[in-house]
Amino acid sequence: MNTNLMKNEVYEKLENIVIIGNGGRENSLAWAIQKNKLIKNIYLVPGNGGSGKINKCQNLHIDYENKNLLIQTLNSLEIDLIIIGPEIPLAKGLGDFLRSNDFYVFGPNSDGAKLESSKSWAKSFMSEANIPTAKFWKVSSVEESKKIISTAPFPLVVKADGLASGKGVFIPETHQDTLKITKEIINGKFGESGKIVLLEEKIEGPEISIFALCDGKKYILLPSAQDHKRIEENDKGLNTGGMGAYSPTPLLSKSELSIIRKAIIEPTINELIKRNIEYKGVLYFGLMITKSGPKVIEYNCRFGDPECQTIMPLMDTNFVNILYKCATGNLKGDEQLLSSSKVSGCVIASSKGYPEDYDVGFPITFNYDESEDVQIFHSGTSVNKKGKIISDGGRVLSIVCQGKDFDSAFNMAYKVLKGINFDGIYYRRDIGHQVRKSYSYEDL
Ligand code: AMP
Ligand code: GLY
Repeated sequence: MNTNLMKNEVYEKLENIVIIGNGGRENSLAWAIQKNKLIKNIYLVPGNGGSGKINKCQNLHIDYENKNLLIQTLNSLEIDLIIIGPEIPLAKGLGDFLRSNDFYVFGPNSDGAKLESSKSWAKSFMSEANIPTAKFWKVSSVEESKKIISTAPFPLVVKADGLASGKGVFIPETHQDTLKITKEIINGKFGESGKIVLLEEKIEGPEISIFALCDGKKYILLPSAQDHKRIEENDKGLNTGGMGAYSPTPLLSKSELSIIRKAIIEPTINELIKRNIEYKGVLYFGLMITKSGPKVIEYNCRFGDPECQTIMPLMDTNFVNILYKCATGNLKGDEQLLSSSKVSGCVIASSKGYPEDYDVGFPITFNYDESEDVQIFHSGTSVNKKGKIISDGGRVLSIVCQGKDFDSAFNMAYKVLKGINFDGIYYRRDIGHQVRKSYSYEDL
């Protein structure tokens, strides 16, 4: 019997997939999806320097904002499922538009994407549903912020309300700096995204990323992951999109996860249902495990990057069917996701200067031993006129390795990194420090 067919459980044809986005996250999704034998073509819109090289994949250089051309193209390619990777098209309503044109989409409509695109909306949502989160104050004028900053317990976390590519969060060290950055945001540092500012109580504890695949009613969880947000070793320096990750995280016991399900995940899904928001996509819970229990730091309406690259190699070939079930509202809630008992680690190679200004256009050389436990997902790369892969972004490559334990996964990732080069390559040498038994910088 064809076990792949059995695993597919498809109700309609599932052969041609579109993935919107151009990062490592989208490449790792494509790579996990191509493993399913029934999938014929995967189109990345627009993809990057590495995506066209993944089995069954090609880049499509169409502007998804050109709605007529997009629909024409999707129809002519007989697309069965569209996965929207990044938050911006989700927040702008690309999911709503594609659904209104009868496509199956993995990714919420703009109403669900508001959980990420408006932090103040998300906070009111959490208050309404009694979901544990840091205390907050919403301000939209300098006068209001002065009052809060002088009376609320110090320190405060300052956040632009809207999307700011992960750069809109600050934890200033003095009252004066808190007021200064709040003023800058209100006065337009992030444009419209900063018209409202959130001032939040600073909470403490390890952070963890939890991903729920949702079909509008039911959900299943991916293995949890831990990101490394700061640019420098020992978790110092500026916040980035994420410099590395590992999964599954041993931070959570079964009973802790069950507390998170009851106190956070289920109330979130129930509140979405109560508000008539049919959320079909991945819901990302950025949590902090505080002394008084887990609290939501943020919601995102998409997979985390680099958590997604880290988790995808652990997925069974059935993964694409689960995305399809989410898109069509047919999740059972007990599907098997994992094919591996291995653990996975990811280290990001970035451009010197990231997350601030950096140069791009440097040729990348690859010299490492291929293995089924090693994946190199391109994040910010492109192909130059001579056909060479060049750096083309802040985060350039995601080096992902699996092993029986985190020491072997990360040792392999750092060994692979020694064979990869481009001008100004930078990576943290301590990714996974929380779960590695022994390592020394000198060896890396
Ligand atoms: P966000 O973009 O909301 O995930 O925030 C970026 C980072 O800022 C988080 O990953 C946390 O490390 C930190 N952060 C955000 N909100 C808080 C908070 N209320 N207390 C402590 N740290 C926070
Ligand atoms: N890695 C964090 C994020 O994707 O927002």
